[in-house]
Amino acid sequence: ARVLVLHGPNLNMLGEREPAIYGADTLQSINEGLQALAEASSCSLAALQSNAEAELIDAVQAARGSGTEFIIINPAAFTHTSIALRDALAATQLPFVEVHLSNVHAREPFRHHSYFSDLATGVICGLGALGYEAALHFALHYLKSHSP
Ligand code: DQA
Repeated sequence: ARVLVLHGPNLNMLGEREPAIYGADTLQSINEGLQALAEASSCSLAALQSNAEAELIDAVQAARGSGTEFIIINPAAFTHTSIALRDALAATQLPFVEVHLSNVHAREPFRHHSYFSDLATGVICGLGALGYEAALHFALHYLKSHSP
């Protein structure tokens, strides 16, 4: 896939998980919306959700050799904890956008720091599921303007 979408821990519970904060959309409906958008632009997209840090790191490592050109990632709670996942993204040198459904800056102080934001091409938070779509629009634009 040219675009890889990675969803971190507990995002498999979207729709039922604190809907006042994270919205009513399920992960499946978010992924389907992204898939439709990608197909309309003849872009291949793969999505993976994992509750396991190691699985996300493995997916990032594998991305480089597999033709992936852009990553959209919501690291979820790993945003605030994972130097290892950050290092994996740094190692691949692939451009990525960090997405959060909620406005992390309007929440608890421990959510204000991200191990990813300074490496990211861009950061989106607080736009709910629309944030993923915005990130994909950006990725498609980016790939168009950076393709040979
Ligand atoms: C989140 C924000 C994180 O602080 C939280 O741990 C999540 C989801 C978001 O999308 O708003 O699991 O990344």
